[in-house]
Amino acid sequence: MTYKIGLLRGDGIGPEIVDSAVRVLEAIAKKYGHKFEFTPYLIGGAALDACGVPLPEETVQGCLASDSVLLGAVGGPKWDTLPGNMRPEKALLGIRAAMELFTNLRPAKLYPALKGDCPLREDIVANGFDIMIVRELTGGIYFGERGMREGKYGEEAYDTECYSRMEIERIAKVAFETARKRNKKLTSIDKANVLDTSRLWRKIVHEMAEGYPDVECFDMLVDNAAMQLVRNPAQFDVIVTSNMFGDILSDEASQITGSIGMLPSASLGNTTRGLYEPIHGSAPDIAGKNLANPIATILSAAMMLLYSFNLTKESDAIINAVDRVLNAGYRTADIAHGGEALGTVEMTDKIIAML
Ligand code: IPM
Ligand code: MG
Repeated sequence: MTYKIGLLRGDGIGPEIVDSAVRVLEAIAKKYGHKFEFTPYLIGGAALDACGVPLPEETVQGCLASDSVLLGAVGGPKWDTLPGNMRPEKALLGIRAAMELFTNLRPAKLYPALKGDCPLREDIVANGFDIMIVRELTGGIYFGERGMREGKYGEEAYDTECYSRMEIERIAKVAFETARKRNKKLTSIDKANVLDTSRLWRKIVHEMAEGYPDVECFDMLVDNAAMQLVRNPAQFDVIVTSNMFGDILSDEASQITGSIGMLPSASLGNTTRGLYEPIHGSAPDIAGKNLANPIATILSAAMMLLYSFNLTKESDAIINAVDRVLNAGYRTADIAHGGEALGTVEMTDKIIAML
């Protein structure tokens, strides 16, 4: 079977880490008899430089015509002073919206081999943790009405948060079903003591919980959740939350794994076509130096095999290869603590050799 994969290399370390993941996918194709057809499209600063816009129409059409899409990262100092709607980050929001990817799955687990990288006290993470954050991705304040205006005290800016019943129901459904396949514990995170959007969110989650009697469902306020994540991360299994809260909490969750360079993500909608990307950024300071950790992008490719193509054993093969490479003690600079470190290419070679 041939799978068409769109590649959005983007900026900074994006090209290097996407190329690593492509090499791993090619090794998988060879080993398991599949065919992956890769087509690159421009996004972010690279697209701004080449065609003057961060998300060219050709990129949108190309992604929509692909079976799935792999993204590196966008952004860099060169484009930081552009107006909001021309920034590379806008392309990321734009492609998620154009592909109708309302679900963002961000797993954060502690690798036993990397326990020493976790900034939390040893007794707190004695039993590890394995959290799946389900972040709503195409609604809320990142997509609400915004603008500038003259207010009582002169110039002011505003952004608005809006969630419809439909948007809340569809993300909650994904979360309940994800919890059902895991440890059957769902924590819905909101700010229902203040926000109307959160009160609607909570009401709908409670209604839906009745349809999932096998899943234990809890509410938690977002400020408390930020604290609980560092106090006792093992209490969480699946988390479901809004776009902005999910953005913030997923960075916090990644940091307590000790290694933001390790965490993949999947953005999904109603079809099997998804967008897969590491949760870290474009790291312009180390771009082009063969220093980036390719593991988050390689694991994003593994998520693609599972969620878009239903290739379970191929996906597991990648995850196991990464585990074995880490257990064997190989590290990239970000997780080497000044010890011996492999480059991006060499780490990728090790993972391919372990497949
Ligand atoms: C992320 C990023 C993006 C987001 C930015 C770059 C638009 O922070 O993927 O978490 O907020 O979604
Ligand atoms: Mg973020």
